[in-house]
This record gives sequence, C-alpha cells and structure tokens, in this order.
Amino acid sequence: MEDLYLPAVSRRKLLGLSTVALAGAVPRAACPEPEPDDYPAPPAAPDLTLYKHESKPHGHEDRPPLTPPEDLMREHGVLKRVLLVYREGIRWIEHDEQVPAHALHAAARVIRDYIERYHEYLEERYVFPRLRKAGRLRHTVSVLEVQHKRGRELTTRILAATKHSHASSHRREALVDDMAAFISMYEPHESREDTVVFPVFRKVTPAKEFRHLGEVFEAEEHRRLGQRGFTSVVHRVADIEKALDIHDLSQFTPPKSSPHREEGGRSAR
Ligand SMILES: [Fe+2]
Ligand SMILES: [Fe+2]
Repeated sequence: MEDLYLPAVSRRKLLGLSTVALAGAVPRAACPEPEPDDYPAPPAAPDLTLYKHESKPHGHEDRPPLTPPEDLMREHGVLKRVLLVYREGIRWIEHDEQVPAHALHAAARVIRDYIERYHEYLEERYVFPRLRKAGRLRHTVSVLEVQHKRGRELTTRILAATKHSHASSHRREALVDDMAAFISMYEPHESREDTVVFPVFRKVTPAKEFRHLGEVFEAEEHRRLGQRGFTSVVHRVADIEKALDIHDLSQFTPPKSSPHREEGGRSAR
C-alpha cells in the first residue's frame, strides 16, 4: 500500500512560535504501538435506517437539525481549540517552564474521545464512503484516512508522555515533536475537509438522505456523549484553556497600530 506519510516539515515555519529546531514530523521507533482498543471501530457500510424511528431528545423537537457539514465543522472548531492548547504547551516547554502535563493530557483525551472516536468515525462511516461511491476525491479521501491513522498514533504517544508531570528532556522533546506534527497535519486536514470534502459531499448526497443524515449525526452524538454532547465537550476544552491562561479571547487581538509606525517596520508586540 502506498505510504502517504507526510515528509519532514519545518515546525518553526508552521507553528510560527517555535524557538527550538523542530525537525521532521516522523514517527519514533521507540514509541509504543497504539493499543488495539485505542482505535475506533472500523467503518462499515452506512445504515441509514438505524435511527429512523428514534424520537428526538427531549427539548429538541422543534429545533431545525444541523446539516451534516455544519455538525462536522463545529467539531473542527473543537479540534482547532485543542491545536491552540498544544501550541501553548509547546511554548511552555520551549521556554523551559514546567510541562503542563495535566492540561495536555486532558486535551489529548478530548482528541481521543471526541475527534477520533466520534468525529472521524462519522467521516469514515458516512462521508468518505459516499464520496467513493460517487467516484469523487478518491486520492484526497485516501490521504485523509491515512492521516486519521497517523493522528491516532500521535495521540497515543501524547497521552503516554503526559501521564506523569515529570518528564526527561528527551521525553519533553518527543512530546513537542508529536504535538507539532499533530498541528502541522491537522490544520491542512480540517481546512481541506471544510473547503473541499464537505461541499462535494453535499453535492453528491441526495437531499432526502442529506437531511436524514443530520438526524443520524445528532442521534449518534447524544448516544455517545449524552444529552449535552457538544456543549459538554466545549466546556471541557474551555477548562483546559483556563488552566493554561489562554481562555480570554481578547488576548489574541493585536494592539492598535500606531499611525506613526515606521514604514516597513512592525512593532514586536
Ligand atoms: Fe478527517
Ligand atoms: Fe474532520
């Protein structure tokens, strides 16, 4: 099978924050193999009758259902917030601060429980097979599937590396490499899904099936994550951001430009 693993990338360039040389997003020979139960169930053919007669959760009767891409894209929003947490974790480690192991472990658990076992499960079970059936985006879908697998390997290692708060310098470096590789892969991964894969998925899916899938996704979310599924995950991520002091949205707003700034120059902060 073709190995579509990403070539080495410049993390310095991609992260825009790194001060340490971050070479190649490559797997480490010494890292543990993912455990079999770390993987979600393999995708099967879509069974759209599964939730046909299921009543909507209490309080949701009159709300218009989310469309499948809307649902998947808000899940990408959770993923983006975890990428921000990983980026902040890298910054702490590179500035020789203590490894925020607890926060990073909690973030990796959100990836495992919500992104890998739920979001990617939906993509692999409902979105990718529909595109294959329509003969669309074959190569892109293959790459995305390989990236899901690589992501699970990285998450297994990040979970292992953040289990304890004290880490050797080698382990800290490995953790930085793995989080940087995760960020480098998932930023283009989710952007491609949002801008290419989901629009084509909408185009090739008959309207009736498309509407029904929205209900299927919602029912799946409540079955797996409880009634407050998405909201509870957002709260989990917000708590992690608070622990790292990156929760205040306004801290990301750049200062107002000075009208007297020298031409060609840009103030550092
Ligand atoms: Fe994906
Ligand atoms: Fe996705």
